[in-house]
Amino acid sequence: MLAHLAYVSVRKNSCTEPEIEKILASCKKNNPPLNITGVLLYSENQFIQYVEGEAIELMSLYDKIKKDQRHEKTVMISYSPITDRIFPSWHMGNRKITSEDIDFVTDITADDKDVFTKIINGKEADGAKVQNLLVKFFKK
Ligand SMILES: Cc1cc2nc3c(=O)[nH]c(=O)nc-3n(C[C@H](O)[C@H](O)[C@H](O)COP(=O)(O)O)c2cc1C
Repeated sequence: MLAHLAYVSVRKNSCTEPEIEKILASCKKNNPPLNITGVLLYSENQFIQYVEGEAIELMSLYDKIKKDQRHEKTVMISYSPITDRIFPSWHMGNRKITSEDIDFVTDITADDKDVFTKIINGKEADGAKVQNLLVKFFKK
């Protein structure tokens, strides 16, 4: 069963930029053989990751990621079956964001901003809204 999973977490101070590079290297190495695609947004103190693939693979990946010492307070914000992938060719698209970034995404609406604020606070659980926003971030 194809599914998606999204979570937010708090990036620890010890998670420096070189550590981010290592995370992305792990994604690049491990995700393609598992057929996991998705995106990772990160800021100075936060992560938002959206992954899609077979449910069983997503769950074992999420179990592994949750134990990673480079972040904490992992909160799953959405998880459900999907019929098609949103990021079929992205083994882990990634982007560093700042709180001002949202203003630079041209077709962002006031509603989107509200959703974004809720996501980064772990309060948005509507998978469709989360997907919509991430698509705007990556496919503009
Ligand atoms: C925010 C965050 C996201 C991560 N995403 C992935 C991922 O999508 N795929 C992956 O294999 N590892 C991911 N990792 C790293 C794993 O926790 C783990 O360190 C890694 O998979 C170990 O595998 P390796 O020794 O083969 O590199 C992530 C870690 C963090 C902190």
